[in-house]
Amino acid sequence: MSSGGSRARGRVPLMAGNWKMYKTSGEGADFVRHLAGELGVANDREVVVAPPFTGLASAVAAARGSSVKVAAQDVFWQAEGAFTGEIAPGMLTDLGVYAVIIGHSERRQFFGETDETVAKKVRAALDNGLLPIVCVGETEAEREAGAMEAVLSRQVPKGLAGVVATEAGALAIAYEPIWAIGTGRTATAEAAQQAIAFVRSQVGAVLGEEAAESVRVLYGGSVKPDNIDELMAQPDIDGVLVGGASLKVETFKRIVQFNEA
Ligand code: 13P
Repeated sequence: MSSGGSRARGRVPLMAGNWKMYKTSGEGADFVRHLAGELGVANDREVVVAPPFTGLASAVAAARGSSVKVAAQDVFWQAEGAFTGEIAPGMLTDLGVYAVIIGHSERRQFFGETDETVAKKVRAALDNGLLPIVCVGETEAEREAGAMEAVLSRQVPKGLAGVVATEAGALAIAYEPIWAIGTGRTATAEAAQQAIAFVRSQVGAVLGEEAAESVRVLYGGSVKPDNIDELMAQPDIDGVLVGGASLKVETFKRIVQFNEA
């Protein structure tokens, strides 16, 4: 598989599937085995799937020796303690988990996630060697009110409040406009590129130019086999965070195997 195009050297494409609250542990392991077999060696891009917590161990076991890596969908920032229902970063690395999605819009909308809790989780993930995939993005009302840049220029600096410039290459940001999630309404490749370039500029504003060039910024929201090539052809889009289309091996495989213009 070839990649590179106009994307800056060093930003390896990150193709991530967020399974949300789908798949039992057995279903997840079957998926990973099947996907790994279909992909073979894929060392010019990173392929990540994010099962629910209960599916992490079996997915890691199924992925062993393959080019598929495993992410969690959330993490708590404390190392241990009386925090019923929470999962510590060290518990994820203990299982062999590679990355963690932080601040997904569903957690912000339904579970009280804030920019401040996102920042604590990002710091804890980095401290434990987990790759944080930090989610940002505006609602439909915010977009219509012309507030997209205002939202992103709050979420990015606040979410990265505890990060230092040299860590930018060890984290990823996913721009997921909420109106595009699960709706079939993808941002056009041009609109996604524009928003993602803005996200990158925000990283530059807080962490400097070098950090902005090394951080990977992904697009998420109704990514499908029929729009992946156009999205990945954009110079600032370094990968994708895929919901619905990551639940089937055939569709996720096609997304992972994007063709760059
Ligand atoms: P969909 O791809 O189903 O729109 O979901 C996007 C998403 O929320 C990934 O985190």
